[in-house]
Amino acid sequence: MSDPSVTVTVDGRDLEVPAGVSVLDACRVGGADIPTLCFGPTMTPANACRVCVVEVEGSRTLVPSCSRRVEEGMRIGTESDRVLHSRRLVMELLGSASELDRAGGDLPRWMELSGADPSRFGEAEPEKGRQPPSPGHGHESIPGRAATVFEPVKVEDELYVRDYSRCILCYRCVDACGVEHQNTFAIAVAGRGFDAHISTEFDVALPDSACVYCGNCVAVCPTGALVGKIEYDMREEGVWDETRQEVTRTVCSYCGVGCNLDLHVQEGRIVKVTSPHDHEVTQGNLCIKGRFGWSYVGSGQ
Ligand code: SF4
Ligand code: SF4
Ligand code: FES
Repeated sequence: MSDPSVTVTVDGRDLEVPAGVSVLDACRVGGADIPTLCFGPTMTPANACRVCVVEVEGSRTLVPSCSRRVEEGMRIGTESDRVLHSRRLVMELLGSASELDRAGGDLPRWMELSGADPSRFGEAEPEKGRQPPSPGHGHESIPGRAATVFEPVKVEDELYVRDYSRCILCYRCVDACGVEHQNTFAIAVAGRGFDAHISTEFDVALPDSACVYCGNCVAVCPTGALVGKIEYDMREEGVWDETRQEVTRTVCSYCGVGCNLDLHVQEGRIVKVTSPHDHEVTQGNLCIKGRFGWSYVGSGQ
């Protein structure tokens, strides 16, 4: 027996989609290019950013497409003035409060397509949020710019760097470290309102926290707030260049689980390791060995 399906209308076009899929999935089947930030393909929607909203006939408010399920006969609009205005505004607000210049994936394209102009909310004052690397104890709010989070860049080890001036508080890292993937609960949202920020317990430095350095938080961060140390250093030096990188899939050699690794190689050097999100066993997750334990490659050269 085939899976039950429902008929929905996306931007005037009738589509048959599997019952229970998200409005986002239905819209993408219909060819709509809907931005997402807090939603990750392997994660339960957090409904934090609202950049994915669409219009659903009969609904007074715009609907977050990542978390809403399709219903029979649903009529969805992804390109109305109201949707485009809301999408642009969310991106402008996020872009005015966080540095998104190192965001990966589709975000830069979505920012451009939406016509978002974060400077409408005042000139950025990046120097106020970009202080020299420090041991990173404590949260230091820095006045002067409407900011999501301002803290000194936290360079605390050789594995990954936390630069919360790029954080949009999407909670993906918290969920990945917690119930969604890792179940380590090393990081959480601390503070309230304007003081909300991502933190280890008691704001201790990462090496002193419960972190096991799996890097699964780094893998889901959409803005580059969490980034591998090698990538961070190369970006600071201005030599990070994804157009010159080759990605080769292999299998982790450390144990019998057989996690898939994507090796990102620039000029013959491994500069980052990720894992495919669509892998049914690992869903893009790795342990410290697979994510960071490859510096032995080429050590004899
Ligand atoms: S590296 Fe792993 S354990 Fe450490 S904060 Fe990130 S998800 Fe949690
Ligand atoms: S550090 Fe990244 S993943 Fe975590 S809340 Fe901030 S933007 Fe989201
Ligand atoms: S992507 Fe849907 S609410 Fe953030």
